[in-house]
Formats: sequence, C-alpha cells, structure tokens
Amino acid sequence: MNKFIIQKEIARLIVLQRIELIDSKMKKIRKVFGRKFFSSFITKYFLNTALIGKKYFDVMEKEFFTLKNFIEIKDKNFLSIGGGVGGLELFINNKVDNSFFCFVEKNYVTKKVKYGWDEKNLEAYNNIELQKKFLLKNGMETSSFKIFDCDKDVLPENKFDVIISLLSLDYHYDFNIYIEYLKKVSHMETKIIFDTIRAEYFSKIFKNVEIIQSQDQTVHKSKRIVCSEFI
Ligand SMILES: C[S@@+](CC[C@H](N)C(=O)[O-])C[C@H]1O[C@@H](n2cnc3c(N)ncnc32)[C@H](O)[C@@H]1O
Repeated sequence: MNKFIIQKEIARLIVLQRIELIDSKMKKIRKVFGRKFFSSFITKYFLNTALIGKKYFDVMEKEFFTLKNFIEIKDKNFLSIGGGVGGLELFINNKVDNSFFCFVEKNYVTKKVKYGWDEKNLEAYNNIELQKKFLLKNGMETSSFKIFDCDKDVLPENKFDVIISLLSLDYHYDFNIYIEYLKKVSHMETKIIFDTIRAEYFSKIFKNVEIIQSQDQTVHKSKRIVCSEFI
C-alpha cells in the first residue's frame, strides 16, 4: 500500500487536521475567502480526494519514522489523543502485532477553524463515524480499536504502553487538561509522545524527557518529545 483509501468527506476532514496538505493555490483561496468558506464550500467542491489520500499517507509515513524507534514489539496498548482520522496509528498497527488503540477525540468540526493556542479547547476537526470508516477501510480490524468522544464518553482507564498526540496536546491546548488522566493511565515505562513549544517545562513534570524532533521552520517552532515517569 502506498496511499490511503478515502472518500471526499474524509479528505475534507484531513485537510483541516493537516493544512499543509493543501497546495499554494488552495491556501490563497483560503486566505481571500476566509476559513469558514474554505471548510464549508471550497473543500466540498475543489479537493482532489485521491491526491489527499496519497499526500496524507506520505506525511503519516514520515511522522511514523520520527517515532518508530520508540515503539517496541512489547508495546501493545496505545492511546491516541487528538489523532485525527488515525493515519499514523495505521502504520503502528502494521508494525506491532496484537496492538490495541484507544482514540480520544472531539466529535465536531469548528465552523471557522483557527490554529493557534486554544485556551478554552473548543477547536475541533474530527468526526468519529468518519474516523471509524477510515480506519476500517485502511486495514484496522474492528477488534483492534475503540474511539472515545472526549466531551461525552467515560475515558478508558487501563494502563497504556504508548500515548501519542501529534500537533494536538500542548500544541493547540494545554497539557494540564489531561495531566491527571495521563497519570492514571500510565505505568513506569509508558512513553508519552507529543509536540510542544515548551519542552523545558516538561522536565518538571517527568523524570525522562527526550527531544526527538525540532520544527524550526514552522510558525509554531515546536519540539517533539518522548516523556516517561511522572515525578
Ligand atoms: C491539528 S489536528 C492533528 C491531528 C493528528 N494528530 C495529526 O497529526 O494529523 C488536532 C486534532 O486534535 C483534536 N482535538 C482537539 N482538542 C482535543 C481534545 N481535548 N482531546 C482530543 N482531541 C482533541 C482535533 O479534533 C484534531 O483532530
């Protein structure tokens, strides 16, 4: 497989989750007509679905390479916070036999998506039904995952081996929203991988913090870190 199979509705979600996937012409249109018009109209009529399926696959493969060395065969229980439709988790699922994924996500799309720091954590760009369709269509078994709506569902309380949140936790909203929950669901060796602009802060929270990638070219200038053992 070298691309994801997606339908238009899923492509529309993916470009909101990964705005880098749209080309410069689309970006200009978004700038001129505004974010609301872009997500409600432009993505409806002018997206090349197959191309987005391919580009999303390539970007997720690249993301997978940034963290694959931290995923061991013994890791079976994965928690994904704000994983979008879950392209990255499909790569992990292919690497690790008998893995199980819990996805914690929001189940709505904000009308006028803004991408900054979201103090109240109201910004969202997902649809759990479409996420489920995407995962099943691209090879994840029904028995290998469960999706939780973070605003409505009781979140899973088992211990996870790896917790991943790319471009979501502490990138768009405060890590502290989930800190008590993460303490509850992690064990001594749980690896928590996420993107942040304040990597130093986390050495007060975790015994081990390792920077695995630096994004200096983007507006956010974030670092991807792997943390373990809450202090
Ligand atoms: C920029 S997208 C990144 C998606 C994916 N991680 C990726 O790298 O492609 C941020 C995601 O976080 C989700 N999100 C926002 N607030 C959240 C929360 N409190 N809990 C879980 N997910 C959240 C959004 O719905 C969206 O899918």
